[in-house]
Amino acid sequence: MGKLAASILAADLAHLADQVKLVEPWTDVIHVDIMDGHFVPPIALGGVVVASLRPVTALPLHGHLMVDAPETQFEELRAAGLDVVSFHLEAVPDPSPALRKARGVGMRVGLTLNLETPVERVVPYLEEIDDLMLMSIPPGWSGQRLNPAVFPRLERAREEIDRRGLAIELEVDGGVKLDNARRAIEAGATVLVSASGLFGSSDPAEAARSFASILAEAGG
Ligand code: DX5
Ligand code: ZN
Repeated sequence: MGKLAASILAADLAHLADQVKLVEPWTDVIHVDIMDGHFVPPIALGGVVVASLRPVTALPLHGHLMVDAPETQFEELRAAGLDVVSFHLEAVPDPSPALRKARGVGMRVGLTLNLETPVERVVPYLEEIDDLMLMSIPPGWSGQRLNPAVFPRLERAREEIDRRGLAIELEVDGGVKLDNARRAIEAGATVLVSASGLFGSSDPAEAARSFASILAEAGG
C-alpha cells in the first residue's frame, strides 16, 4: 500500500510537535524541506529542525534537500536524526559519489527531479537509490498547484522501476491534494507528499485520514 508523507513546510512551526501529532496516526513519513537560498530562492529548515523533531516522533524523517553541494550536509543531518535523504539530480554533476557518501553515513538515499528534467536522466542511477521523487511544482514553495505533466512522468518512472524489478519508492511532491491523489497513485506513485493539503486544512487530522483512506482504497 502507498504511503503518506507529511511535509512540515506548511505546518505552524511554532507548534511543530503538536502539528506532527495531529497527522501522525495516518502518516508514514515526515518530509522536511531543506532549502539553501541558492538552488532555490528561499532558505528553509535544516539540521536544527530535524534535531527538534527527532524525539517527538518515531516516524522516519526524510530530508528533501533543495541545495547546492548536498553532500556537505549529510553528516550534520544524519547526526540530527535524519533517516532518508534526497537531493536533486540537477544539483550535482554526478550523483553517484554523493549517494555513496549518504549511504556511508547511514541514511537511505533518494534522487529528486524537477519537472523540466527528463526522467531518462535518472534511469542510470535507479539501482543506486531507495527513493525517486518527482516534483509536480517548481521547488521552493508550498501552496502551488500540481502540474499534470507529472502524471506521464510518474508512469514513465514506474515502467523503468518495474522493468528492473526494483522496490524503490516513487514519490510525488507538490500540490498533492485529496482530489488528485488517486490519479497520482494510478500513475505509479507509492508516496504522496503533502504540506498545504494537510497543514493548510482546517482539520489536518481529518485530511490525513482522508489521504490514508484514498491510499488504502487504491492499494486494494
Ligand atoms: C516544495 C517542497 C514541497 C512542499 C509541498 O519545494 O518540496 O515538499 O512542501 O507543499 P504543498 O503540498 O503545499 O504543495
Ligand atoms: Zn519537498
